[in-house]
Amino acid sequence: MTLFFIGIGLDNEQDITVKGLNIVKNCKKVFLEAYTSKLNCDLKKLEELYGKKIIIANRDLVEKNPDQILDPTCDVAFLVIGDPLGATTHVDLMLRAKELNIQIKVIHNASIMNAIGSIGLELYKFGKTTSMPFFEPNFKAETPYLIIEQNNSIKAHTLVLLDIKMDQNRFMTVNQAIEQLLELEEKHQKGIFTEKTLCIGCARIGADDQIIKAGTAKELQEFDFGPELHSLIVPSQLHFMEEDALKIWSK
Ligand SMILES: C[S@@+](CC[C@H](N)C(=O)[O-])C[C@H]1O[C@@H](n2cnc3c(N)ncnc32)[C@H](O)[C@@H]1O
Repeated sequence: MTLFFIGIGLDNEQDITVKGLNIVKNCKKVFLEAYTSKLNCDLKKLEELYGKKIIIANRDLVEKNPDQILDPTCDVAFLVIGDPLGATTHVDLMLRAKELNIQIKVIHNASIMNAIGSIGLELYKFGKTTSMPFFEPNFKAETPYLIIEQNNSIKAHTLVLLDIKMDQNRFMTVNQAIEQLLELEEKHQKGIFTEKTLCIGCARIGADDQIIKAGTAKELQEFDFGPELHSLIVPSQLHFMEEDALKIWSK
């Protein structure tokens, strides 16, 4: 009996791999981790293609109550949007499975962590990835600003992943992320992220209507990227080929 961690890609039901699809079809139970990312299609489309009923696995089920997933009596598919171990890892679930002597197998897929290669910056030159949470009245996370500073110090680009509040159907936009970073700049005054900072905003990478736009923070703040999901990239020192690539997106 095996617990399969299956990446289902970035766009819609069509993005699962042939290998992943064949495994899903043979699993007795199929869960979809649906709190760290979002597909551009609804659950019905997945169920139709897979020919399976899908159980939505929210954070509570995965982290506090995973017994249904860790079932040693049958093959179980745990579907993750993107790659199962990209960005948000599910190592905890893997370790629990190991403790129960449940075999695990990972079926990889594209992740936002490598799909941003399509903007033309070298993936090898990215530093730490950071997440930008929505500011709360009493807590304004400074980590993204500090990570951009750290990455800049080693001439590394920064990928900023943006907050998702699935239960409220709330997804941070590139515009909101820029606004928050400018607020942190206002506080720290280190010149890390100003209105003149070159950045790249992207939306729905992998979908037919994906958007990639390069410009200053001020320019991007006024640009409409459309529906979720969005990410922001803050480049550091650019190679001339990266500069050429960014010209494509600044028109
Ligand atoms: C936890 S990460 C996604 C992890 C996922 N397992 C993966 O491998 O891509 C979620 C964040 O990544 C970014 N993201 C994911 N998919 C995206 C896409 N197709 N286009 C733009 N940003 C995306 C968004 O900022 C989103 O809030």
